[in-house]
Amino acid sequence: MIPFVDLKAQYASIKDEVLPAIQGILESCQFTLGAEVVEFEKEFAAYSQAQHGIGVNTGTSALHVALLAAGVGPGDEVITVPFTFVATVAAVYYTGARAVFVDIDPRTFTMDVNAIEAAITPRTKAILPVHLYGQPADMDPILEIAKRHGLVVIEDAAQAHGAEYKGRRVGSIGDMGCFSFYPGKNLGAYGEGGMVVTGNAEYARTMRMLRDWGAEKKYEHVLKGYNYRLEGIQGAVLRVKLRHLEAWTEARRAAAARYDSMLAGSGISTPEAMPYARHVYHVYAVRTAQRAAWQSALQAQEIQTGIHYPIPVHLLPAYADLGYKAGDFPHAEQAANEVLSLPMFPELTSAQTETVCNALRKLTTPA
Ligand SMILES: Cc1ncc(COP(=O)(O)O)c(C=O)c1O
Repeated sequence: MIPFVDLKAQYASIKDEVLPAIQGILESCQFTLGAEVVEFEKEFAAYSQAQHGIGVNTGTSALHVALLAAGVGPGDEVITVPFTFVATVAAVYYTGARAVFVDIDPRTFTMDVNAIEAAITPRTKAILPVHLYGQPADMDPILEIAKRHGLVVIEDAAQAHGAEYKGRRVGSIGDMGCFSFYPGKNLGAYGEGGMVVTGNAEYARTMRMLRDWGAEKKYEHVLKGYNYRLEGIQGAVLRVKLRHLEAWTEARRAAAARYDSMLAGSGISTPEAMPYARHVYHVYAVRTAQRAAWQSALQAQEIQTGIHYPIPVHLLPAYADLGYKAGDFPHAEQAANEVLSLPMFPELTSAQTETVCNALRKLTTPA
């Protein structure tokens, strides 16, 4: 069997480092926030080329506190994409603001920068691009438009730890960058976790308060805050894993390169890495109009695949109240119908990528 992700293989490779780190928390009893979280915040912010890191309990909370720090609230609009995980849009909803969608560029699956200006209204407060699958959105035009209209840029970098845009790490390009440490992410906790990174000290201070009940000093609640604290065990585990992240990212990129070369000339549509990007391949998605047939044929050969994501957010029942309809974002809708994510994780072997590619090539070769 070739799994879609293999967290057990990764654990086996770092067990000797992770167990003492967890034991350290059990002994110090710093179960929530604490010294390991503080160190991890510094290390991950530095890794992302940002000054401040604010650890939180999930990537969704990271987006929520970032939007709140930017002053987003009821009556405001936030421009984002419908082809993303639902959390991007949920975080906007939590603030009381409204998500306004623009379509994606079908080559990159990220925000179509040419569609942004038409979506700006006097209520627009922020632009929220998503670095989907680990490829950065085209940030320069986004920053330029934001500057011209006085908008805040918040990067959803939940899938893009260590990805680069023109040599700069994601998260530090916009005003704030939000990461998820959900277990299957490129940098995954042993539980839930998230972080906002920023170069803005004032935003950082606000977010530190928001994640811990709006208080800077115990029981002195300045803001209406939340319990979004990152756990000590996750901080300790993530510190260990961060030391391996570059090697794991290079292993993902090597696996993607093997897929690219083995599928070249097969007629299969493979992902396109932009010249500006260091793509970190959280997901390696091919496109096909015969997705259901391909997925079941691969499953029959014990090759697991995934779909990220089968329904764009503007067509989800939960967000019907935004008032969009089928046909509004054709590129997002077509991508949702066609994408198929192949097995992708750092420990994926050459033999495994070859098995997957041989199975795919058979599907496209006329009998
Ligand atoms: C693009 C995107 N945004 C936000 C999130 C939310 O992160 P979390 O699951 O840690 O809340 C995720 C991951 O689940 C994601 O993929």
